[in-house]
Amino acid sequence: MIQLTTTGARTGRKHRVPLGALDIDGRLVVVASAMGSPKHPGWYHNIRHNPLVTVETDAGTFEAMAGFPPDRDELFAEVVAREPGFADYQARTSRVLPVVELHRLDRVRRMGDWLAEVHDWLREELRDLRAGESQSLSQRCLGFCSALTRHHTGEDTAIFPMLARQFPALAPTLTKLGDEHVAVARIQEEIQRLVDDETDPARLRAELDRLASLLDSHFAYEEQTVVKALNALLPAPG
Ligand SMILES: [Fe+2]
Ligand SMILES: [Fe+2]
Repeated sequence: MIQLTTTGARTGRKHRVPLGALDIDGRLVVVASAMGSPKHPGWYHNIRHNPLVTVETDAGTFEAMAGFPPDRDELFAEVVAREPGFADYQARTSRVLPVVELHRLDRVRRMGDWLAEVHDWLREELRDLRAGESQSLSQRCLGFCSALTRHHTGEDTAIFPMLARQFPALAPTLTKLGDEHVAVARIQEEIQRLVDDETDPARLRAELDRLASLLDSHFAYEEQTVVKALNALLPAPG
């Protein structure tokens, strides 16, 4: 048994419920069974709205992100193998019983921290580039821009879709971040054009200033909104 504390989707109030949880290969799993009733339990609605939860176990209390794992069916089969009662709950309702994984947040240097480190590196590169000599500007612009494009492509194609699937509450945030990537890419195209042209260094400087100010707010917003969720899901890459 654990105690799960969620934040009320409508009320914003804390909501604490006792739940049977399973440890499946080191993953902490709960099922929104409501004992087979036709409606999802309140805590399920709450975590769709705000996945940040508190978990109390016999071993201690920790913060966690409640996510919807991509291998839901395999996990549910494991749950049933250990606790056959869940098969009875499933048989009583037409709902597909949601399986929820509680990802601990108190571990060191995870994927979200790594993302913030990449941002720091990009911030520093851009600062150096803008402070540097005009002659070397073109070459350094291209290096910086291709690193930035790789970073945003990785977010758009891998990181954001994974976060959206597991933490539905993040969907509007991820859409906004994706739109900002498009705006950044437009400025990058303009920079590329000016670098190729080599006729308007003042304009190139101005576009780099625009890029820097947009990236400042973009990185800050991204760090505020997705670092915890990424820390919950993945270790930092090696
Ligand atoms: Fe981004
Ligand atoms: Fe980023």
